[in-house]
Amino acid sequence: MPASPDSPGTTVACATLSGGPDPVAFRFGLLADIQYTDVDDRCNHTGTQWRRYRNSLAVARNAIDYFNQSDLSFVLHNGDIIDHQCAFDFAKDEFKPKAEGLEQLGRVMRILSGSQCKDWMFTIGNHELYNFTASELREGVTPEGCTLPFKCANDEGSFFFSRTPAPGWRVVVLNSYDVSIYSKGREQGLDVDALELLRKHNANVDKWVSDNPEGLEGLGNRWVPFNGGVGEEQLEWLKGQLSEAEANDERVIVFSHLLVHPETTANGSGRTLIWNYQDVLDAVEDERWGKNVAAVVSGHQHEGGLYTNDNGTHFVVMESPMLAEPGQPGPFCVVEASSGGLRMIGYGKGPNSKIFGAEEGEQYPPAEPMVKDLPLAPVEAKA
Ligand SMILES: [Fe+2]
Repeated sequence: MPASPDSPGTTVACATLSGGPDPVAFRFGLLADIQYTDVDDRCNHTGTQWRRYRNSLAVARNAIDYFNQSDLSFVLHNGDIIDHQCAFDFAKDEFKPKAEGLEQLGRVMRILSGSQCKDWMFTIGNHELYNFTASELREGVTPEGCTLPFKCANDEGSFFFSRTPAPGWRVVVLNSYDVSIYSKGREQGLDVDALELLRKHNANVDKWVSDNPEGLEGLGNRWVPFNGGVGEEQLEWLKGQLSEAEANDERVIVFSHLLVHPETTANGSGRTLIWNYQDVLDAVEDERWGKNVAAVVSGHQHEGGLYTNDNGTHFVVMESPMLAEPGQPGPFCVVEASSGGLRMIGYGKGPNSKIFGAEEGEQYPPAEPMVKDLPLAPVEAKA
């Protein structure tokens, strides 16, 4: 790996170990929550995460070096590419000039533009909506010196869409901010209907729209402004996609910035869930097609998570590069999809990673990328 001033000083070994028992149908690169901003490292509001904002660029650089060693069908960044602080000066309580955010996005996108795989998907996270208008996210933003646009919609302009990376496989991208007080994006005013819905569930919102509500309990913790919901039309579309997949004996991988399963939230807090997560979970776990859903992959929560339900669907939460511990190249990975399972090959944020962890005393990171196998039961072909 080329040396750089921001590099954590680690090397990234070859991405593709393969060696799995089944032929690989396709490979993709995966990272989430780069959330870069040019500010000093610090703790989050709740004191649970030490965020190394500038080091996120070094992790992104490592990720591109790593991805470039594999033949990838696509790369997916699962939301929150730059931080809210790129757009807003919290000390002065005012928006910063738009050029400032664009310059910081450019630092990330110039790195991602070095990717040999040019097929990137970017899901919408809350920080996208703090920094850009919905139309910018739809049409794409290409900062100076970048060949890769930062664009969250498909060619038809939809923030939720599906595609077929290989026969027998379907990728579904959700917009978990379909219903959001910020759905219009930066400086476009709040969405009145979403604000009303939020008020119904969180009495604090009438007093202050803040990311730190008090008095919420259990899974009710999700009713905060920085989360959002999946609208009725999208929900019906999702069910249609899953039904079609079942009819075609396809496996499905769902991507959503916000979390879908409570078991993957940090300490079971529920804080990072989709507002109407139960609707989405019911759709994903529907007995007619639940076994076709190989995985639901989220970001947003930063600390990582992994849970497998009774259908064998894996709920994965990617760790954030902001939380990479000193000397760690990751977190990021390449995923190999085969009929036998999803093989994640890559790096975690540190030895206590929920996906790529290590036993006490083990060298971390090991000389070779780590492997996490997510096995899949056979999909029964219809006669
Ligand atoms: Fe987020």
